[in-house]
Amino acid sequence: MSSTEASYLLNTQYADAGNLNARIQLHERFSTNREDLHHWIFTHLLDTLGPEAQILEVGCGPADLWRKNLERLPAGWRVTLTDFSPGMIEAARAAVAPRSEQFTLAVANVQELPFADSSFDAVVADYMLYHVPDRPRALAELRRVLRAGGHLFAATNGAGHMRELDEMIAPYLPEIAAYRPDLLPALAQRMPAIQGEGFTLENGAEQLEAAFANVRLDTIPDGLIVTEAAPLIAYLRSISAGLDLPPDLVERFSRQIEQQIATDGAIRITKATGLFLADAL
Ligand SMILES: C[S@@+](CC[C@H](N)C(=O)[O-])C[C@H]1O[C@@H](n2cnc3c(N)ncnc32)[C@H](O)[C@@H]1O
Repeated sequence: MSSTEASYLLNTQYADAGNLNARIQLHERFSTNREDLHHWIFTHLLDTLGPEAQILEVGCGPADLWRKNLERLPAGWRVTLTDFSPGMIEAARAAVAPRSEQFTLAVANVQELPFADSSFDAVVADYMLYHVPDRPRALAELRRVLRAGGHLFAATNGAGHMRELDEMIAPYLPEIAAYRPDLLPALAQRMPAIQGEGFTLENGAEQLEAAFANVRLDTIPDGLIVTEAAPLIAYLRSISAGLDLPPDLVERFSRQIEQQIATDGAIRITKATGLFLADAL
């Protein structure tokens, strides 16, 4: 990732939770698997960790994993939430306010964690490792702050995730980028930068094995059947965050979606997502 892309992620795409929320809503409303993804991930934490645990989450975003599972949070867990975006930490703080005594929040980059060696029983890195420019360094940091016998949980997507939507949006990308040539490098790779080609279900195990043992993968069968145009337009806006999209482009994209829904009844989109579990020896 170039420094332009890093600054785009921090200052525009993830400056606050708004863009991420537009994408999350698409998943929440139209997923074929009715089990919430964060509920499914949290169950893996419950199945693996004991009643007392010190847990670190890196790239926590608006803390959806915890907000959606606050009622299932064991009283003996202490959770440190970190993200490199101050806007995300602000949203996360509000999200966990009802159980604030169990949470500590800090702005931190996963490549340089401000924690002592062996501080945690578990680290969570969900849908964020694909954004990290120096992933070997981030993985070494995650291993360093874990105690021996500690656990890593790292969710990510597969290469085919949201393929049909990416294909629908791709023809519009050059036009969007023309409005902000300075963001061209980030936008040219917009879909891979969001969905991640650098850390996927296909290549993640190999990368984790450099720092962790017993790497295994659990996947959740899922897909999207979208029957309304508006949420897909919100998605398009969210991935081009910070840009005023030309109104006629939005109209053309909307018409394309509406026509497809009228013809086929819905737009079907592939999802490929899963959770890597690994241990620190
Ligand atoms: C797609 S969101 C995932 C949020 C959350 N983990 C979840 O699963 O709902 C990616 C998050 O990673 C954060 N992030 C990206 N690069 C980071 C880095 N180098 N260090 C810390 N956080 C980072 C972003 O600010 C954003 O909040």
